Amino acid sequence: MERIDAKALAAKIKAEAAQQAARLREAGIVPKLSVILVGADPASEVYVRGKERDCAECGIESELLRLPAETSEAQLLAEIARRNADPAVHGILVQLPLPPQIREQRVIEAISPEKDVDGFTPVNVGRLLVGEDCFLPCTPAGCLALLKAAGTPIAGKRAVVLGRSNIVGKPMALLLLRENATVTICHSKTEHLSELTRQADILVAAIGRDRFVTAEMVKEGATVIDVGINRGPDGKLHGDVDEAALAGKAGKITPVPGGVGLMTRAMLMVNTLRAAQRAQEAQKEK
Ligand code: GUN
Repeated sequence: MERIDAKALAAKIKAEAAQQAARLREAGIVPKLSVILVGADPASEVYVRGKERDCAECGIESELLRLPAETSEAQLLAEIARRNADPAVHGILVQLPLPPQIREQRVIEAISPEKDVDGFTPVNVGRLLVGEDCFLPCTPAGCLALLKAAGTPIAGKRAVVLGRSNIVGKPMALLLLRENATVTICHSKTEHLSELTRQADILVAAIGRDRFVTAEMVKEGATVIDVGINRGPDGKLHGDVDEAALAGKAGKITPVPGGVGLMTRAMLMVNTLRAAQRAQEAQKEK
C-alpha cells in the first residue's frame, strides 16, 4: 500500500502560490485574507493559526478578527459587510462552526462571492453545480489534487463519497462527477453500506467517525482519501479510515494527520491568490 505524499504536494502548491504572490506584489497588489473567528473553539484556534502561518509563508497578508462567543449575528454581518466593501481585502473566511445564536447559512450568504475563498456561498456552489468557473471548496479541491498527483484514474471509474456535508461530501461528489467518475454518495442512512463501498475504485471518507472504514469495506487496490480527523480513545489523532487494517488491501491511501488537512490549507492560499488576481483584472478593465 502506497501512502500519497500530501506533504510534498502541499509544499509544491504553496511554493507556486508564493511566486504568484510575489508577482502580484510587484504589480502593487498585496494579496490579503481576512479571517473571522467567533468564540474560542479549540479546533478552530488550531485551524486559524495554521492558516495564518501558511499566509505568512506564501507572502499573503492575513488579518484575524477575534470576536467574543456572545457576538450577535448582526454584529458579525456588519464585520463581513465592512470587508466586502474594502478593496484591500481579497478573501474573507469566517471560521466554522459558529455559536448557536448565529445562523451559519445567513452568514455564509453575506460574503461577497468574489471574496468567498471557502467556496461556500450559494453563488459558488451553484457555479460548481453547473460547471462554471468558481472558487472550489478547499478540502474537496485538495482531495482531487491528491488523486491526480497519485496518478489515480478518475474518468469512468466508480467513486464513493462517504458523507454528505456541504463543506466536503456534496462538493466532493460534484468534483468527481466533473472528472467523469461514476459517483455514489453514502451517508448515515445508507443501507448495505459495505456493499457499495466495496465497489469503489476511489473511496473518499468524510463522516467524522474514528477509523470507521475497515478492510472489508474496501476494494482491493482502491485509492482511499481520508478526510477525517478524530481524537481516538487513545488520545491520538485518527482518520475516518483504519489505515493499519487496510495494509495489503488498499492501493493508495492518504495519511492522517499530514494528509488532506495540509491540502485544505494549501488550496485556501490558491483561492486567495485567485481572488487577488481577479481583483487586479477587474481593476484593469475599469
Ligand atoms: N471549519 C472546518 N473546516 C472549515 C473550512 O474549510 N472553512 C471554514 N470557514 N471553516 C471550517
